[in-house]
Amino acid sequence: MAKLPIIIAPDPRLKITAEPVDEVDDGIRKLMDDLLDTMYAAPGIGLSAPQVGVAKRVLVIDLAREGSPPTPLRVVNPELVWISNELKSNEEGCLSLPSQFAEIKRPESASVRYIDPDNVTRKIEVSGALSACLQHEMDHLDGRLFVDHLSRLKRDMILRRLSKMRRADGNAIQSPI
Ligand code: NI
Repeated sequence: MAKLPIIIAPDPRLKITAEPVDEVDDGIRKLMDDLLDTMYAAPGIGLSAPQVGVAKRVLVIDLAREGSPPTPLRVVNPELVWISNELKSNEEGCLSLPSQFAEIKRPESASVRYIDPDNVTRKIEVSGALSACLQHEMDHLDGRLFVDHLSRLKRDMILRRLSKMRRADGNAIQSPI
């Protein structure tokens, strides 16, 4: 298993539509293990393949609380089968937009079909935080970030703040001691 570098927005690699996986093989299983390693190290609760520069419809999630045993979910080729009419607002963040958060409204519940690490097609019903997280990660597979759900004004504000932060980081690294 390996920790991979996470791509930070703005970056064209976060805007692509990822390709479906034909068959889950050892390469895809290793990718999911690496995504989990990277996510746990960050730390985060979800990570998609495009965020590490791999244009495949693969994502991982773990909402287990710190100190609890891990409950990793490995998801390939997810598809929304059903969404509730009821929307719910959750505070979201993203490892590709470090330190940025916003309230995002999404369907409160959803049913998602996907392929598991053993190539078995499964369906899960999700609600609450898991629903928001899964929809957020699925958005990444279609090149959408959580800020794309906001008004242009709010989105630009967050992206400006992020680029300011990145510039400040760059200066800190380059400045002599
Ligand atoms: Ni994200």
